[in-house]
Amino acid sequence: MSDSLSRRNFLGTAASGIAATALVRPSVAGGVEAPALHTTAQAANIAVASGNGLRGVERAGQLLAQGADTLDAAIEGVKIQELDPNDRSVGYGGLPNEHGVVQLDASCMHGPTKRAGAVGALEGIKTPSVVAKYVLLYTDHIMLVGEGAKQFALSYGFKEEDLMTDATRERWLRWRANRGETDDWINVPSDSQLVPRQTGTINMNVVNSHGDISSVTTTSGLAWKIPGRVGDSPIIGAGQYTDNEIGAAGSTGRGESNIQVCGAFLTVEHMRRGLKPTDAALETLRRVVAASEDRLIDDRGRPTFNLSFYAVNKRGEFGAATIYPSRYAAFDGSEASRRDTAYLFERNG
Ligand code: GLY
Repeated sequence: MSDSLSRRNFLGTAASGIAATALVRPSVAGGVEAPALHTTAQAANIAVASGNGLRGVERAGQLLAQGADTLDAAIEGVKIQELDPNDRSVGYGGLPNEHGVVQLDASCMHGPTKRAGAVGALEGIKTPSVVAKYVLLYTDHIMLVGEGAKQFALSYGFKEEDLMTDATRERWLRWRANRGETDDWINVPSDSQLVPRQTGTINMNVVNSHGDISSVTTTSGLAWKIPGRVGDSPIIGAGQYTDNEIGAAGSTGRGESNIQVCGAFLTVEHMRRGLKPTDAALETLRRVVAASEDRLIDDRGRPTFNLSFYAVNKRGEFGAATIYPSRYAAFDGSEASRRDTAYLFERNG
């Protein structure tokens, strides 16, 4: 069965494009009109992603130039990281939970068809972004989790595989052996470093030269997490969000802090009322800081964690912002490069 969103019967509206200059007046619940947004035709294919997405945005850009659908291009881009054993934050080679089991989360949205798909705590499948796309394509549901998500993937011919590599198994064993003074594990080897907790992930947002938009986020989540913990990545509106009339946004970093503000949705809403992508992402981060519990704020009033948002609008403008300085990846229509994010606080300021 073809899994391409480029199939004519599925695309329908996707190839329609937008007028040279259009006044978009999206309506919201209750019949009240949202603020008008002026859009102009933009000629470039754009992809914006987290810093680990440099190869991915380049691949997405190539595919868009060949006429690929925006979600197909984005997923081919993030799959590079899912299949890379050296990316410890995504797919195969991602760090496991506290029991040594890799549990993966992913979600995606396809702007032209207004569809969404997601999987949570998926085990044994290297490419959760593709499984999320299958949920989007072939079901009336949005999210499948755990064993059900795995059985769903197996039914489409995905292979069940061991997602741990020798390197991630060693890291996990070192973490388990050194996690506490009173546990039953002898610290081995005595000189080993505790591997810090990390929240990697890849998010990618794409707009093509017709103004069609898609987004995808995929992750192995927080290293050493409590089994069953699901982060922001598979939550529609947190891990990523697309509105084909406005733009797309997604996130990496401390998922719990993103979920509390529905950050990807909020960033798209900020763009709807006229903010540029970078300013929209910064505004969302200010909300995150304001919504943070005291235990997550240091004595200088700064968060003890980092969080990033990446955004693109229908015009092809793009940007990214973080709490502390970081880098992101973008394909600007002609080349892929890493760029500095806008940020709220200097790291040692
Ligand atoms: N943002 C990835 C996670 O928290 O799982």
